[in-house]
Amino acid sequence: MSEFIDLLNSIEREALSAIEKAADKNSLENASNAFLGRKGRLAELSRQLGTLDNESRPKAGARLNEIRKRLSDLAETRALQLAGSEKTFSGIDHTLPGRRSFVGRRHPLLQTVDLIVSIFRGMGFAVAAGPDIETDFYNFDALNTPEDHPSRDLSDTFYVEKGILLRTHTSPVQIRTMQSQKPPVRIIAPGRCYRSDAPDASHSPVFYQCEGLYVDERVTFGDLKGVIISFARELFGPDMNVRFRPHFFPFTEPSAEYDFSCVLCGGKGCRVCKYSGWLEISGAGMVDPEVFKAVGYDPEKYTGYAFGMGVDRITMLRFSIGDIRLLYDNDVRFLRQF
Ligand code: PHE
Repeated sequence: MSEFIDLLNSIEREALSAIEKAADKNSLENASNAFLGRKGRLAELSRQLGTLDNESRPKAGARLNEIRKRLSDLAETRALQLAGSEKTFSGIDHTLPGRRSFVGRRHPLLQTVDLIVSIFRGMGFAVAAGPDIETDFYNFDALNTPEDHPSRDLSDTFYVEKGILLRTHTSPVQIRTMQSQKPPVRIIAPGRCYRSDAPDASHSPVFYQCEGLYVDERVTFGDLKGVIISFARELFGPDMNVRFRPHFFPFTEPSAEYDFSCVLCGGKGCRVCKYSGWLEISGAGMVDPEVFKAVGYDPEKYTGYAFGMGVDRITMLRFSIGDIRLLYDNDVRFLRQF
């Protein structure tokens, strides 16, 4: 009897070490078969149980079952280990998350341009465009800007060379449009502008404006106010108010700056509107007769209004963006949010 148990023990040791040492799937299978298979060592011993006497047979049988269980558990664990190391060898870690591909989208500034354009299209305006690199004739002279006006200074305007500059506003598109067509003219002109400003939360040397121009017989300041108010309410909702303050521009007379009621506090006063209840949008006014003369329109026959607007400001208000520089950093973590 003890002889049989000794034999079982030694076969167990042999089997444990064979399974442990199996370095790949094949040798593990061979080791398992040799001991646990239908014609393996344990099966053979199991047949020999019959030769034992009635007293020792149950004990030996129990021991045999114990060994079978232990060996098959170990073989299973070893198989999992080998499968795990195979993954590493193949260079692919199947547990890593996959890489997502991102769909591109329109920049928030251009989304705002699209919205502005669609609102003015609905009011009968066409879209016009002009070059970013302008001559001082279109950017200043034709817009009745005096030779010694401070905006012409090197400290305010980027010059490419003498007489050639990066446009400081979209107003030169007024001139180009009036030169190329007869009244009535009803256009908006969105586009990039440049000024030599030090960047901070509300200044960027590159920014977007949208120009508006309407020229016909008997156009009045009242028409201008109506169009700006309609625009403000289309853009930010029916509770919007617009305020015009007297101002000066060389190319409009009279001139005004216009403000929207604060989109955040509704006019009560908050940090964004600096507790005034109003947000400055840009300038506007009636086209100066000098500008009509520069483009060959008869100032006795035609009147018109012009307005500008800061697209960056409007974008920042729409999306609650606190720093204009975010619009030009092109950080995808920012851009993906729109
Ligand atoms: N061009 C002016 C500016 O950049 C805005 C403006 C446009 C004013 C049209 C009057 C008429 O500040």
